[in-house]
Amino acid sequence: MTRPQFDESFSLFPLSEIIQNTDSNRKVKKLLETFSCTRNIDLQDFLYNKAVTFEKNLRSRTYLYIDNTTQEVAAYFTITISTLHTDNISPEVIELLDGYKNDVASIPCFLIGQLGKSDKFEPRKIGEYILDDVIEIIDQSQKSLGGRFILLDAINKKSVIKFYEANAFFPIEEDSDSESIKMIKPYFELLDEKA
Ligand SMILES: CC(C)(COP(=O)(O)OP(=O)(O)OC[C@H]1O[C@@H](n2cnc3c(N)ncnc32)[C@H](O)[C@@H]1OP(=O)(O)O)[C@@H](O)C(=O)NCCC(=O)NCCS
Repeated sequence: MTRPQFDESFSLFPLSEIIQNTDSNRKVKKLLETFSCTRNIDLQDFLYNKAVTFEKNLRSRTYLYIDNTTQEVAAYFTITISTLHTDNISPEVIELLDGYKNDVASIPCFLIGQLGKSDKFEPRKIGEYILDDVIEIIDQSQKSLGGRFILLDAINKKSVIKFYEANAFFPIEEDSDSESIKMIKPYFELLDEKA
């Protein structure tokens, strides 16, 4: 897949590399604060206040898109290994996700904990490119380790759900009335599971 415009404008860096190659915490903080997301303050808050601690404590991995011209953070994502708690999920879907049982309380998975672009880049449709990179990185671990699906908590708005659906995710909660809705991208083949 070609994505020249996107690739020429930004470079993707692991936060761990930036921490390692920067001589003070203050400089890292200053870089992270070039990102702003008024549409999703939690996303901004995570990057300002938690990402570095989570990185150092190996809780997750954050990756930053740096604008090659301004050296500002244009977008970022955070990924980790996690478990899906199955409280609000039907037995049929639990069996599909687990691949074996329909009554388990939790299922291991990969998690996209954070994903988004900075306010400045709101008009540019770059979400699918970010997701491509996320999936490419998770795919490498999945090939070595196994793992049945990628999980994320999407904002429960039609336009956001549509964005993820266009990129091979689907909701696993029906009629979620909370602010977020769980969506997954399976590694298993849906038809094979039913056969
Ligand atoms: C999610 C995201 C990466 C998708 O990027 P994109 O493919 O370039 O596309 P857009 O920014 O146009 O977003 C797609 C649609 O979702 C809507 N949307 C995106 N984030 C939203 C948010 N936080 N709240 C409400 N609507 C949102 C957009 O308005 C757009 O709606 P439209 O299709 O009706 O115009 C990007 O919108 C983003 O970074 N959003 C802010 C951060 C965020 O909320 N991240 C968590 C998403 S679960």
